[in-house]
Amino acid sequence: MASKTKNTTKGFTSNDTRNERRHRLAGNMNFAASEAYKLLRTNLMFSFSDNGKCHIIGMTSSFRGEGKSLTSINLAYTLAESNKKVLLIEGDMRLPTFSGRLRLNAAPGLSNVLAGINTTDEAIQPFVIDADADDALQVDVMVSGDIPPNPSELLGSEHAAGLFNLLRGKYDYIIFDLPPVTAVTDALVVSKLVDGIVVVVRNNHAVRGALAETIRQLKLVDAHILGFVFNGATESGSSYYKGKSYYKGNYYKK
Ligand SMILES: Nc1ncnc2c1ncn2[C@@H]1O[C@H](COP(=O)(O)OP(=O)(O)O)[C@@H](O)[C@H]1O
Ligand SMILES: [Mg+2]
Repeated sequence: MASKTKNTTKGFTSNDTRNERRHRLAGNMNFAASEAYKLLRTNLMFSFSDNGKCHIIGMTSSFRGEGKSLTSINLAYTLAESNKKVLLIEGDMRLPTFSGRLRLNAAPGLSNVLAGINTTDEAIQPFVIDADADDALQVDVMVSGDIPPNPSELLGSEHAAGLFNLLRGKYDYIIFDLPPVTAVTDALVVSKLVDGIVVVVRNNHAVRGALAETIRQLKLVDAHILGFVFNGATESGSSYYKGKSYYKGNYYKK
């Protein structure tokens, strides 16, 4: 039984209830959203034929704010729910949000590891829900870390390739939350490191021309586009964290 005062695992405080932790990891998903994520999980699992190997999935979009981070967190959670060992990496080193959202340490993280300052073990924080329960759920998280001056160079380095090869041996799925394609080149730089890329498109947010350009750029670097997540709020002014019917997600396989 979980002790109220025990606080041995990073990512939550002793006062957090199970529901609060679950809420922070995946939001207060309603039925439709949770079903949409399960469908996304299923489609992704079927996208890879060689089961038993680690799959690294990059998440990107045309612009900021389309829901990459939200989708990455929810997808990681949904994969962990089906007993997969999952690592969630915050690849947007310019605008970190994970440590705040998940209440994790802001550093060390990806940038620190890529710069050779910290080891992966130091930079990976377990986010555990009910560590002592039979159905404990864990997602390992590597936040982006200290903001570096040169994220694209770090991501394109030999060190990055080595890091991903090392991590491949430890996880079933690695979800790599990336910056938007139209803002910086990071997503294009890492296309060689990932097995496939999912493009998040937000309703009333994405611009047709920009999405076409995003796809063109990804194809130019031979990225394997796995598909698209259509992320669209249906209630004007609804708040995701209030747990209203906020989300309508569909996954379109290319
Ligand atoms: N479907 C949605 N409904 C309501 N709010 C959303 C939805 N998708 C994303 N958001 C909110 O929009 C903001 C931007 O989402 P985020 O995942 O951080 O985008 P990105 O990582 O693509 O920049 C966050 O506050 C997130 O909670
Ligand atoms: Mg983000």
